[in-house]
Order: sequence, then structure tokens, then C-alpha cells
Amino acid sequence: MACSYGVFESIVEPLRKEIGFPYTIMPSTLLVVGQGGVADVASLCGALIGAASAIFLVSGGMDRKLREASYSIIQDVYLWYEQSALPDFRPKNPKYEIIKSVSASNLCHVSVSKWCKASKFKSFSKERSDRCAWITAAVAKYTVETLNKYADGAFKIAYPLSAAAQACRSCHDKGSKLENTRAVTDCGGCHFTPSMKKEHLKF
Ligand code: HEC
Ligand code: HEC
Repeated sequence: MACSYGVFESIVEPLRKEIGFPYTIMPSTLLVVGQGGVADVASLCGALIGAASAIFLVSGGMDRKLREASYSIIQDVYLWYEQSALPDFRPKNPKYEIIKSVSASNLCHVSVSKWCKASKFKSFSKERSDRCAWITAAVAKYTVETLNKYADGAFKIAYPLSAAAQACRSCHDKGSKLENTRAVTDCGGCHFTPSMKKEHLKF
């Protein structure tokens, strides 16, 4: 059932057994649609959709404080995903050897295509499919480690937004002069192009 369901269910299934309600009534089938960056559209990485859903289910809620705490955990997982060489999980007897790549993005399309470039495998190959299964495991693992820290009262943001993206936000995001964007992600992959104005190149 692929990436999104894979991450969600690997976290929620043990909770269903160990804690029971409300995890017993969670319709995990809903998470299947996150597959391939939502219905194979290759938008937000499906593994991250599963992670956000599981994190929010475990730590979030309607209350503003709970929501904010939950969003910090989600943002940490997302930036870890962008900034790390993944997959950093290797199964015991793998079918293929899968190389790591850094996506610098939370998007399925970017993550897959950068890996295709690095590995020379096709985006619809069995190797790519296996690579996303490893990614699913890697995301589930980091998510659970982070949630465990949170449960122990020891959660700290381990992967802050890059200094470069923070600089962009200082002129373009909430409370800035232009305030014409909103994003907690690396900007460079999409915006470091030759058409960028000269004042931006110093970043
Ligand atoms: C010192 C303030 C400042 C910082 C820092 C800054 N920008 Fe800008 N940016 C501007 C201004 C001013 C404009 C022009 C706005 C206009 O003409 O309406 C602009 C325009 C843009 C545009 C639209 C036109 C173009 O130049 O392509 C993009 C995209 C953009 N910035 C992205 C970024 C990114 C990505 C970063 C970080 C790498 C960044 N900006 C950092 C001030 C800044
Ligand atoms: C997934 C790709 C992507 C990422 C990541 C991204 N952007 Fe953009 N951004 C776009 C696209 C596409 C547009 C629309 C450009 C257009 O209309 O010409 C845009 C528009 C903008 C504009 C308005 C441009 C204008 O012409 O006025 C600014 C400013 C901007 N982005 C800044 C940022 C900043 C700052 C970040 C990081 C926090 C960021 N973007 C991350 C793709 C991206």
C-alpha cells in the first residue's frame, strides 16, 4: 500500500495493539491516497504525508498549544528529510543495493528525480520502487525516534531551516516587508536560477 500508508500504519498499528482506543477507530485506508505524492501526482512525498498524519494523531489536537507542538515535530521531520542523505535505513537482505541522495525538497518529484540522476535508475523501475520502500522505513524510524523524544519531554528541533532559506524569509515571509510567500522549505532548488536578480546571489 506504498509510502504514505506504510509510514502511518507502521506507527499506528503498534499503538492500536498497545493502547487501543482511539487508534482502533482510525481508518488507515485513508492514507493509501498519499501514494506517490498524493494519487501518483508526485506532489508532497507520500512518506511525509503518513508521517505528518501519525505525528498529529499522536501529539496534536484542536488546542492551539498541542497543534503548535505537533507542527514543530512535523517540520523537524520534513527538514530532516530535505537535508539528509536518504534512505538511511537498509533492510537485512535487500533485493537491490540502493544509493543515498539528498533531495533538498519535500516533494516526491524532486526526491525521486534526484535519486534517478544519482543512481541512473528509471523512475518507474523496480529499484526506484524499492528505494521508496526504504525511504518509507527511514521516515517511519526517524518519526518514531522524534515522537519518543517528545514523549520523554526531550524534543528539540534537530533540523532547523537552512540559514539561506531563513535569509529569504526575512524579506519574503511573515512579518517581512514584502510578505509575499509562506514556506518552511529550502528555496534554492526552485529559485537559484540565472534569472534571479543580482541582490539575491549573495545568498
Ligand atoms: C534583502 C531582502 C531580500 C532578501 C534577503 C531576498 N529577497 Fe527576494 N526579493 C526582494 C525584493 C525587494 C524583490 C523585488 C520585489 C518586487 O519587485 O516586487 C525580490 C524578488 C524576488 C523574487 C521575484 C523576482 C526575481 O527576482 O526572480 C523571487 C523569486 C525572490 N525574490 C526569491 C528570493 C529567494 C529565494 C531569496 C533567498 C535566496 C530571496 N528572495 C531573498 C528582496 C529580498
Ligand atoms: C517547489 C518549488 C518552489 C520552492 C521550494 C519555492 N518556490 Fe517560490 N515560487 C515557485 C514558483 C513556481 C513561483 C511562481 C513563479 C512565477 O509566477 O513566476 C514562486 C514564486 C515566488 C515568489 C514571487 C515571485 C514574483 O515574481 O513575485 C517569491 C518571492 C518566492 N517564490 C520566494 C520563495 C521563497 C522565499 C522560498 C523558500 C522559503 C520559495 N519561494 C520556495 C516555486 C518554488
